[in-house]
Amino acid sequence: MEEAQQIEEVALQELATLDDSKSLDDWRVKYLGKAGQMTLLVRSIGALPKEERSEAGKKINLSRKSLSDALDARTADLAARERAARLAAAKADPSLPGVAIEMGNRHPIQVVMRDIRSILKSMGFATAHGPEVELDEYNFELLNIPPDHPARDMWDTFYTTEGEVLRTHTSPVQVRAMRAHAPEPVKVICPGRVFRYEQVTARSESMFHQVEGLEVGPNVTMRDLLGVLQSFARKLFGDTRTIRVRNSFFPFTEPSIEVDVDCFNCEAKGCSICKHTGWIEILGAGMVHPVVLTNGGYDPATMTGYAFGLGIERIAMLRYRIQDIRHFYRNDLRFLRQFQSA
Ligand code: FA5
Repeated sequence: MEEAQQIEEVALQELATLDDSKSLDDWRVKYLGKAGQMTLLVRSIGALPKEERSEAGKKINLSRKSLSDALDARTADLAARERAARLAAAKADPSLPGVAIEMGNRHPIQVVMRDIRSILKSMGFATAHGPEVELDEYNFELLNIPPDHPARDMWDTFYTTEGEVLRTHTSPVQVRAMRAHAPEPVKVICPGRVFRYEQVTARSESMFHQVEGLEVGPNVTMRDLLGVLQSFARKLFGDTRTIRVRNSFFPFTEPSIEVDVDCFNCEAKGCSICKHTGWIEILGAGMVHPVVLTNGGYDPATMTGYAFGLGIERIAMLRYRIQDIRHFYRNDLRFLRQFQSA
């Protein structure tokens, strides 16, 4: 049938000139749509004399198929060209310098914590951990601080709505560690965060870090404690350091002591760091109270022990000459980057 071929020819020529999806769709409607030229031609077959119908039908169908194949090919071609254009527009320039990944550095508290832990590890202490949200029982009662005891005033405490406490010191891990090891000897440190409902000042934070030390055994004495603390102070602050011991009070140790180290800054002559006394306070310690030993599962008649607890922020302040504890947690990069190589 002539007409089908004519329409096909014209349509294909027209199609070759189109290059956007809107005009392709218009083209489809014009030739292949419900009222399109090719569709109308198909419908007109019925009006032909019977003997011509089959031949005409074949030709028209061939032309129609040729148009729809051409449309598919053109559509795919157009999509490929659009994709290529998008890629070309977004093309990366391999000669441009890359974006450098910035290296972070350790927080000064972690640097000091790591050093303290490695010194104590070299002296035979294993590491134990306990929960930051602690039971009143472990934070106070088992440490010989019953409810309403005035010693509770030493620690201003955050309580959860469930009645637990945010541990005010790392000492609750003492009882946890004893219970885990009794009746065998135990020698552990417990590093971690502690919390106090305190006025934040240049020297005091409401969240800070402590390291607790504990040794319980058949013949552990105050002499062992002093030996450990003397070596510890020398390894941390320098070979020539010496320690000084003063009386103190903690409900869970008896006797209790406060330990100072001679000032590494002025060789104990007196300076602003040691407040012109020649001595710097570094920790609290003592012999584990018999009540606490019993609570830990030991017989105080045969087993004795010592414990000590130190604050990491205060030691970091001494080491880096930091005047205000609040710098540690302000997230000011100008401060934190000073410890790049620490
Ligand atoms: C205690 O917390 C005892 N548990 C220590 C202890 C352990 C004694 C074992 C005996 C045996 P104290 O409340 O003094 O003690 O705190 C210990 C250290 O934590 C202090 O020397 C200080 O370095 C640090 N510290 C206390 N309060 C703050 C605070 N608000 N901000 C920063 N550091 C603090």
